[in-house]
Amino acid sequence: MTLDEKIGQMNLPVGADIVTGDIMNSDIGADIAAGRVGGVFNMKGCGKIREYQRIAVENSRLGIPLIFGMDVVHGYETVFPIPLALSCSWDMDAIEESARIAASEASAAGICWTFSPMVDISREPRWGRVAEGAGEDPRLGAEIARAMVRGYQGRNMEADDEIMACVKHFALYGAPEGGRDYNTVDMSRQRMFNEYFEPYKAAAEEGAGSFMTSFNVVDGIPASGNRWLFTDVLRDLWGFDGFVVTDYAAINEMMVHGLGGPDDVSKMAVDAGVDMDMAGGSYLATLKNLVASGKVSEEQIDTAVRRILEAKYRLGLFDNPYKYINPEREATQIYTQANREAARRIAAETFVLLKNNGNLLPLSADGKIALIGPLADAATHMQGMWSVAAVPGRNRSLRTAFAEAMADSSRLFYAKGANLYGDAEMEAGASMANCIRDPRPAGELVAEALAVAEKADVIVAALGEGAESSGESASRAFLQLPGNQMELLKALVATGKPVVLLNFSGRPTVMTYEAENVPAVMNVWYAGSEGADAIADVVFGKVSPSGKLTASMPRSVGQIPLYYNHLNTGRPRSDGPAVFEKYRSNYLDSPVTPLFPFGYGLSYTTFAYGPMKLSSAAMAPDGSVVVSVPVANNGSRAAAEVVQLYVRDLVASMSRPVKELKHFERVELQPGETKTVSFTITPADLSFYNSNLEFVLEPGEFDIMVGPSSAEVQTARLTVR
Ligand code: NOJ
Repeated sequence: MTLDEKIGQMNLPVGADIVTGDIMNSDIGADIAAGRVGGVFNMKGCGKIREYQRIAVENSRLGIPLIFGMDVVHGYETVFPIPLALSCSWDMDAIEESARIAASEASAAGICWTFSPMVDISREPRWGRVAEGAGEDPRLGAEIARAMVRGYQGRNMEADDEIMACVKHFALYGAPEGGRDYNTVDMSRQRMFNEYFEPYKAAAEEGAGSFMTSFNVVDGIPASGNRWLFTDVLRDLWGFDGFVVTDYAAINEMMVHGLGGPDDVSKMAVDAGVDMDMAGGSYLATLKNLVASGKVSEEQIDTAVRRILEAKYRLGLFDNPYKYINPEREATQIYTQANREAARRIAAETFVLLKNNGNLLPLSADGKIALIGPLADAATHMQGMWSVAAVPGRNRSLRTAFAEAMADSSRLFYAKGANLYGDAEMEAGASMANCIRDPRPAGELVAEALAVAEKADVIVAALGEGAESSGESASRAFLQLPGNQMELLKALVATGKPVVLLNFSGRPTVMTYEAENVPAVMNVWYAGSEGADAIADVVFGKVSPSGKLTASMPRSVGQIPLYYNHLNTGRPRSDGPAVFEKYRSNYLDSPVTPLFPFGYGLSYTTFAYGPMKLSSAAMAPDGSVVVSVPVANNGSRAAAEVVQLYVRDLVASMSRPVKELKHFERVELQPGETKTVSFTITPADLSFYNSNLEFVLEPGEFDIMVGPSSAEVQTARLTVR
C-alpha cells in the first residue's frame, strides 16, 4: 500500500444528506476510486451502497472493500423504543433481541457497522442525549452494553446478519457541565473508574469491534486526542484490540477546543491511538506531511490501518465485499410482521407506571375516552430521535391505535388541545419538520379540548416533549411540561373527570404538579414504530406495565445532578419528614429525595417480598454468598417484577456510595404465584477502585439490600473476613 492508500483507509466520509457538523461530503465516488476512503456512513439502501462498494472493489487500485456504517441506534426500519426506554425494561433478553433484529434488518440493506451501543452513564436529564443511554447506573449500563454487543455482533460477525458494534462515546460524554451538549466534563479518575467506565469496559470485554471518541474533554484533553484514554486505558488496561473512530469531525473540533492547528490536532489524534477520522477529512489533509516531516511515523499509520483492515476481515468483506448487500433480503427481511411484533412486545415492557390512584388504569376498552394532547395524533414523533432508517409516516399514531383497540371507535374523542410548545420558534427548533402547528390561539385549543372531554368518562392526556427535544443538541434548562401544555393539563384536571397522563419524554422530566394532581401517570418515552399499539396494549390492560426507572426523576432542575448511588457526605440529612435541617446536606426549599427514585415503577398487580436470606452472614475474600428472597404476585393479573440487589460498603479506604446496584432479575409471575429469586454475591460485587485505581475488596462489613426499587429495600449484614 502506498502511504496515500493507507491514509485513505483512515478516512470515513458521510455518505448521505445527514449532516450534523460543518463538513459536507464532496465527490465521494472519485475519492473512493482514488483510494481515499475507508468507509462511508449513514447511507441507506442496497442500491447506493452496492455502487459505492463496486467502485471500491473494481475501480480502486487495491480493491479494498469499504465498511458501511450507520446510526442504527434503536432499530432500523422496525424502530424499537429509545435506549433510555429500553433500559427501563431491565430485560436483557429483550434488549439483545432488539439489537439482533436491528442488525438483521440493517445488514440486509448493506450496513455492516452500527454506531451503537451508546453506553455513556448520565445523571444529567438536562442533556438531551440522556435519551440514548441506559440511565444513571454503571452496573445496569454494563449489562445492557453487553447485551447489545451480543445482539449486533452475534457469533463474532460470521453470518451475513451480524454486524460490528461501535461503542460510544469514549469517554464521559454523559457528564457535561450544566447539561449542555458538547460542554466541558471534569471528574476525578476514581469517579471515572467507579461510576462511569464500567459499561465501556464491559462492551470491550464482550468483544465489541470498534469504539468511538467523544466530543468532550477528559482531564482537559479532548477525547479524540487523549492518549491516556485510548491507549493506556482502553487498549493496554482493558485489552481492546479493535479500531477507534472519531465522532463527527471531532479531530477538527480540537482546534476549536484550542489545541492548535490542523497538523497539531491530527498528530494528537494519531498519537492517542485514534484510527479513523469521521467526516472531518483531517487525516486526509495532514497525515502525509506529518509523516514526511517525521512528526508521525509510518509505523503509527500502519498500526491504525492494520486495525481497520482487520475489522474488514472480521466482517468477511475481503471474502465477499457484497456479503451484506442483498437486495432479496432487503426486500423481504425488513419491517417484517415478526420484527414488528417483537418491537411491540418489547415496547410494552418499557413504560413506567408512576402513579395509579384507585387503579384508574387499565381502562376499559368499551368506555368513552377523550384522547387529548399534541402527542395524541402525532405518528412521526413515535419513532423517537435516532431513527435514521425509519420510514416517516408509516407507523401509527396513538389515536389510530386506540381506535382499533377500542370495542367501538365512535367512543373515542380527540382534540389536540395544545401545540407542543406555546412559542412557535421553540417548537420549530425542537420538533420534527413535519409536525404541523395549529395556528389557533392557545385558549381556543384548550376550549376545544374541554368540549371534547365533556363527551367522555375518562381523559387520556398525551403530553410531553417532542421526539427531537431530546437526542443530540437538544439540551433543556427547564424540565417541566411546556407552559401551554401545563395550562391544558390543569384545565383537564379541573373538569373533575379522571385523567390519565401519558408522558412522552426522552429524559427524566419534572412532574411535581402531575404527581400531586393527576390520578394516573405513565411515562411512555418514545416507544418506536410500534409504540402506539404497545401503549394501547398497556392502557387497555392486555399487558401489565413492568418498566422501572433507570434514572431518578427530580422534583426540580435545582436538584440536578441527582442519583441514587451518591456518597453519604459528613452531614447527611435524616430520613425524617422533609423539613429543612440546619447544618445538614439538604435544601432550604426542597426535599433532597427525587420525585420518583431509581428502580421505581408500578404494576397493575401488587408484589409482596418475603424476608431475604443470606446463605451465610460471613464470606471469605475469595468466597461467595447466595442471597435469596421470595416474591409473590398477590394481585389478580400476570405481571413481571424487577427484583433489585444493592450493596453498601460500610467502612473503606474511600467514601463509598450509600447504595450500588449489583444484581437484578426480571421475573414473570402469575396471579398467586411465588418465586424465590437468588443472587450470588461475588468478590467483584464488593470491590471498588481505590485511590491508586486498583480494584480491591477491602474486608469488613457490607449492607446487602433487596427490594423493588432503590428507595424500598430490606437489609442484611454481610461480613467479609
Ligand atoms: C454525532 C454523534 O455524536 C454520534 O453519536 C453519531 O454516531 C455520529 N454523529 C454519526 O452520525
